[in-house]
Amino acid sequence: MPDTITITDDRTGKTITVPIQGGVFPAAAVRELDPALFIYDPAYMQTAACKSSITYLDGDAGILRYRGYPIEQLAEKSTYLEVAYLLLNGELPTAEQLVKWKHDVTHHTFIHENMRKRFVDGFHYDAHPMGMLVSSIAALGTFYDDAKDITSKESRDKQILRLIAKSPTLAAMCYRFSVGQPFVYPDNNLSFPANFLNMMWKVGDYEIDPRLERAMDVLFILHADHEQNCGTTAMRVVGSSHADPYTSAAAAASALYGPLHGGANEAVVRMLADIGSIENVPAFIEEVKSGSGSRLMGFGHRVYKNFDPRATIIKKTAYDVFEVTGKNPLLDIALKLEETALSDPYFVDRKLYPNVDFYSGLIYQALGFPVAMFTVLFAIPRTVGWLAHWQELLGDKDQKISRPRQWYTGPEPRNYLALGDR
Ligand code: ACO
Repeated sequence: MPDTITITDDRTGKTITVPIQGGVFPAAAVRELDPALFIYDPAYMQTAACKSSITYLDGDAGILRYRGYPIEQLAEKSTYLEVAYLLLNGELPTAEQLVKWKHDVTHHTFIHENMRKRFVDGFHYDAHPMGMLVSSIAALGTFYDDAKDITSKESRDKQILRLIAKSPTLAAMCYRFSVGQPFVYPDNNLSFPANFLNMMWKVGDYEIDPRLERAMDVLFILHADHEQNCGTTAMRVVGSSHADPYTSAAAAASALYGPLHGGANEAVVRMLADIGSIENVPAFIEEVKSGSGSRLMGFGHRVYKNFDPRATIIKKTAYDVFEVTGKNPLLDIALKLEETALSDPYFVDRKLYPNVDFYSGLIYQALGFPVAMFTVLFAIPRTVGWLAHWQELLGDKDQKISRPRQWYTGPEPRNYLALGDR
């Protein structure tokens, strides 16, 4: 069987045959048939907009790999900072490289005092921390004029380091502001996840339980990248205009904020709280199936149509955390929902399974995070994924400024009508 595809334009009889490589054929073939012919593909369901060697995802088989390494192995054996290095550089660091990388990240965690005193203090007292984070990421870029120099590798590496190191600091700062607590400065003696927990929770003496530190790190690993999702696509689209990486990352974080994307874990906890008790689960499932508009949040995925491997790891992590914190009272409702949905033809036929957000919210809540912080917790580790893709984009000779075409469905040409004639 030849690995080619032949397309015939029946209007002209013109035929073109092009190779299929890795399940993909170039859209340039369509251009060759007729430069005015476009493919209508809302939400890019069938379109590969780039080549990427960062993350491999097979939704049917439930496979997720970073640079070839299975997510299960990384979640069990690695650390977030090691994974960040891997995503950015393509290989796991050597012992020496890891020491340097950890040192570099640790020594870029502080932010300019004006960010806190003038910028963050300007928010309304009840500002949503994710809204604050999105704008803080963009504002951070204004402190680094060299960030605009995206053609220099040295400058790119510096901004990457800054963004990875400062994202937990910004996140914790937004939280502390929202609850009116004084800001806790980064502690260079702590690990990446422990430093974040410390900046979040330290009031007087604060001891970090190593099991919770590890759980935080595992959650960071699981959320570090997920190939061309909505947020990463936003990063690539804005980055393709050669905007600086802070502005591009702020766009990516904005996309993540939406309830169909990173906002889903927040929606899951709200949904579980609304359901209230196990007895109400069947009625809720019926409501979802009735097409009333309610969705079973934390279920379904654009790509995973079998299971989300991250959800399996997260469920286990949830139990590790509950051993320390005590069980989240919403867990029983979640388990009942999962059991009911997985045996209901509505969900089975549509291949709807728990996604990464179904259990992550319960863990975050058990760790003490308010619901409004959940998407922020997603944004911290995803920053490295955005940056790995940004870096890849800038080095990709095939790429240009993102500029999709449209299918115009508006009025035909018509003459301007004077106000009195309308
Ligand atoms: N609950 C109930 N029905 C659902 C759900 C759900 N969670 N998800 C999809 N469906 C149904 C749709 O109504 C549709 O049914 P139909 O064929 O009868 O019209 C069918 O399943 C296909 O759904 P689509 O919306 O076409 O699937 P799509 O791939 O566009 O959506 C998405 C994926 C957005 C994740 C969706 O499943 C959803 O809204 N889930 C809930 C929100 C969520 O958990 N988001 C987190 C995703 S993971 C992440 O971003 C990190």
